[in-house]
Amino acid sequence: MARKILFENIDIPGIKDYEVYRKNGGYRAVEKAIKTMTPDEIVEQVKTSGLRGRGGAGFPMGLKWSFIDKKSGKPRHLVVNADESEPGTFKDRFLMEYIPHLLIEGAIISSFALEANLSYIYIRGEYMWVFKILEKAIKEAYANGWLGKNILGTGYNLDLYVHCGAGAYICGEETALIESLEGKRGNPRIKPPFPAVSGLWAEPTVVNNVESISAVSWIVNNSGEEYAKIGLGKSTGTKLISASGHIKNPGVYEIEMGMTVDEFMNSDQYLGGMIDDRPLKAFIPGGSSVPILPANYIFKTANGEDRLMTYESLADGGFTTGSSMGSGGFIVYNDSACVVRNTWNFSRFYHHESCGQCSPCREGTGWMEKILERIENGHGRQEDIDLLWDIQSKIEGNTICPLGDAAAWPVAAAIRHFREEFEYHVRFPEKIKNRNHFVNEP
Ligand code: NAI
Ligand code: SF4
Repeated sequence: MARKILFENIDIPGIKDYEVYRKNGGYRAVEKAIKTMTPDEIVEQVKTSGLRGRGGAGFPMGLKWSFIDKKSGKPRHLVVNADESEPGTFKDRFLMEYIPHLLIEGAIISSFALEANLSYIYIRGEYMWVFKILEKAIKEAYANGWLGKNILGTGYNLDLYVHCGAGAYICGEETALIESLEGKRGNPRIKPPFPAVSGLWAEPTVVNNVESISAVSWIVNNSGEEYAKIGLGKSTGTKLISASGHIKNPGVYEIEMGMTVDEFMNSDQYLGGMIDDRPLKAFIPGGSSVPILPANYIFKTANGEDRLMTYESLADGGFTTGSSMGSGGFIVYNDSACVVRNTWNFSRFYHHESCGQCSPCREGTGWMEKILERIENGHGRQEDIDLLWDIQSKIEGNTICPLGDAAAWPVAAAIRHFREEFEYHVRFPEKIKNRNHFVNEP
């Protein structure tokens, strides 16, 4: 039976409500943390756990917490990043919708560990109904003495607010999110300084993803050491995966890090294999920002070893034969999918969402979208493929925030692994017109 940490209690009827959550052990970790542990002890436990940020970057969470300057005398803040907008990623919504108090509980403990008295949850505007669920849960936490002044009579004060974004993908980038929270346009800032040094209102701030914060109660209850025993190597613990595409069982799964991609993809307990048993063509393991991989690289790494659901194994071979775990948005394509159309779709998204501050991203995403549109619609030229390659290579690494890279990588991977499909579009425009899908023809 697979290990569950975040979904341990998710099937309990009514677990969304405070009373049921509390009866099933909820808020026990807050009591333990605030009454019996020091903030630094909690930071140490999180460090020991090896938990890595679940928003996509996989940065060690305890290390990030330890960058917070507690001696500056400035107020400190926790900001929970619930601006989940990565195409293919919907795991945070699931957590907040079905077990909201797990996040509130984790946010209280994390704020205490950071010695923060004012914290926020920033949620994307499209999740309005989840915003309401969180507001209700926060109200219940205040009413029961877990938030507000003098929590549990310990003298610790914490106010927690949920703030709704207005639908911009870029506001999920931590510095754009902070700008937006400050009431400004969500333009990313140049880093460094990192938010841990100068974040919200230029005060030390930790921005952590919903899934990361939701794991904190378990770590406090069971210890960082126990958490580190789950998973494999530097990919400790469990990971939520949002699975979509041509698979039999799409949905959100909690997996223990280290299982093989083969088991995850093909066992009935998880994705159940390909829908209609059509051949697997490609997959993206970490949301639209990470490289697409063709079927021959999915189950085996560059060294011929089994590909595992870990940060290391999914990235094995770099972007030539590997990809990235990213935010865990697992998208599977069968042979009816058109890689050119898919890449065009992603490019259109990144162009639309670019904030426009950096020329390579502002202009390059638009050029890529236009070129892909003409290739997909049968007006492509042979030199367009090299032009696309050239543009993406000039965006990567030359922008303020990772949106530029995220726009470049899918294009690079699609050309690297599916060049013949682009060429087919250019050479046989009449064949690709008037069809819904690209079926691999010789
Ligand atoms: P990053 O690698 O720049 O930073 C990761 C975290 O570590 C940040 O919080 C940063 O402040 C902190 N950090 C790194 N070095 C530091 C230092 N020296 N001192 C203090 N703090 C430091 O990555 P970023 O930009 O936060 O995230 C990029 C990832 O986000 C991508 O890999 C992508 O997969 C993912 N993503 C997720 C989305 C979602 O909806 N979940 C949407 C878009 C992208
Ligand atoms: Fe804005 Fe794009 Fe530059 Fe990011 S890379 S700051 S989204 S223009």
